[in-house]
Amino acid sequence: MRLLLVSALSLCTAVLARSVDSYVVSEAAIAKAGLLANIGPSGSKASGASPGVVIASPNTVEPNYLYTWVRDSSLVFKVLIDQFTTGQDPSLQDHVVNFIDAESKLQQLANPSGNLTTGGLGEPKFNINITAFTDSWGRPQRDGPALRSTAVITYANWLLKRSSSSNVLETLWPMIKLDLDYVAANWNQSSFDLWEEVESSSFFTTAVQHRALREGAALAKTLKQNATAYLTQADNVLCFLQSYWNEEKGYLTANTGGGRSGIDANTLLASIHTFDPAAGCDAHTFQPCSDKALSNLKVYVDSFRSIYALNNGTASNAAVATGRYPEDVYMATTPGLAISNPWYLTTAAVAEQLYDALLVWERQLKIEVTETSLSFFQQFEPKVKVGTYGLLSLTYIKLLAEVKAFAEGALAIHAKYTPSNGALSEQFDKTNGTQVSAKDLTWSYAAALTMFSARASKVPLSWGAAGLTVPKVCKPGPPLPTSTVTFTVDATTVAGESILLTGSIAELQSWSPTTALPMTADGSTWSVTVVVPASTIVDFKYIRMLDGAVTWESDPNNEITTPAEGGEATIDDVWR
Ligand code: NOJ
Ligand code: NOJ
Repeated sequence: MRLLLVSALSLCTAVLARSVDSYVVSEAAIAKAGLLANIGPSGSKASGASPGVVIASPNTVEPNYLYTWVRDSSLVFKVLIDQFTTGQDPSLQDHVVNFIDAESKLQQLANPSGNLTTGGLGEPKFNINITAFTDSWGRPQRDGPALRSTAVITYANWLLKRSSSSNVLETLWPMIKLDLDYVAANWNQSSFDLWEEVESSSFFTTAVQHRALREGAALAKTLKQNATAYLTQADNVLCFLQSYWNEEKGYLTANTGGGRSGIDANTLLASIHTFDPAAGCDAHTFQPCSDKALSNLKVYVDSFRSIYALNNGTASNAAVATGRYPEDVYMATTPGLAISNPWYLTTAAVAEQLYDALLVWERQLKIEVTETSLSFFQQFEPKVKVGTYGLLSLTYIKLLAEVKAFAEGALAIHAKYTPSNGALSEQFDKTNGTQVSAKDLTWSYAAALTMFSARASKVPLSWGAAGLTVPKVCKPGPPLPTSTVTFTVDATTVAGESILLTGSIAELQSWSPTTALPMTADGSTWSVTVVVPASTIVDFKYIRMLDGAVTWESDPNNEITTPAEGGEATIDDVWR
């Protein structure tokens, strides 16, 4: 009976596999071509992009994505650099060289986040002709330098085996070092998250920073450079990374700010982009098969079961289409129903995390079920208990088959909502599955390719996640550079009324009216002096308080960039 069940299940998987197999073959070629079409100077959809510049998408209205993001570009080039360095596609070297050249130029550009020495490396987005984008935006985003260094380090490690270390030291190390130094110095400063919305600390950002510092330290040692700062900060970052885990609810809270559930594809993307097969199912680095990452995946997937109509009728233990996070409203299509849509790259991340997990379980010939991962496994085998299941146990075989079926299910959804020409946009409609938002999203193509590689058990290179120890006590990061701002506002008040200040950073009480900073009056001029993070964009408002009642200044927010380290500034405002 049990054996029958197993074979019925493998039969199902086999039927599904045949239909997704042909999708994988055709879509792999289309995704690769779609990705290359979005890279300058010769990509067919990237006209106007400088050599090596990756456009996010050729879409110019709703949304206008004809820009280059450091995050998207680095994730895209990691795919190409992996294909090149593993010999899958030797023709890519010119692209790689162009990319490194373009990114080196972007590093040097003064932009609204600062210049090279004052925080400019945190700028998320540039014009495609390598000039600064100067409109307002969610900046800085501190995952960019980490992802970029990871991509370039992969190439540097390949080059080291073929040329002298002095060559790598002269050509690649200077740009890698800029990014690593930025990460080492700024990892504990707040940052906009990868979705460019929440300014706080973000799991994805912290996780990719940790990886960059580890592999950066290893490369520094090989090149006989000083790796101490990178290693010290890598330990501190790893320590901090643990704090995102929500033990009670069994998932990773994606951002320390933001006022949402914190359930977010952010965390699955972090797990797949920091996958290191040598680390097994290590939970401190949230490896794809770790108990924490599996529990987190279940909570994440379940949060989309009932909010997208196209998931209706799916078994409660099968894959569904997923989006960025359940509360998302970006590009909501149904009027009056402000819920976003599923994304290709997040649905692919579910499949990829599980393919990565399967690879490790098949290599280590066992699956460990812990208290933490029990609910993940029990959705497939309600009777499974905490324990280790080895090669010879039926449970091992069944769980492998069921997890595989779940991953294939996510892939089948990806396939089902991909039109016959294979083009991948950013999202597909939550009700009817038609494509929504940016067309030909380069990151969607890259995410399809990494999902396919994981499915084919292509083992990624290790980056040093194995055997790490988390420090018992987390040390704070480097002291943050600060400057001083005196805020003054001219406001006439009635007796008993006072003026206070609040704004977007902790030093301004993070927009809390109840703990806002009291100001001192001199006639009708109210002022307060605050030590703030240097070279940082700060939004703020003055508020009136009378008998406990709060009146906010009218919109929009006031905005300043704080002075560079050690500087002072006075702001003269008039109450609005
Ligand atoms: C544009 C960003 O790219 C997107 O991620 C975000 O959701 C919207 N702005 C709204 O803030
Ligand atoms: C919006 C996404 O939220 C962000 O992550 C991405 O970098 C940009 N679009 C460009 O693709």
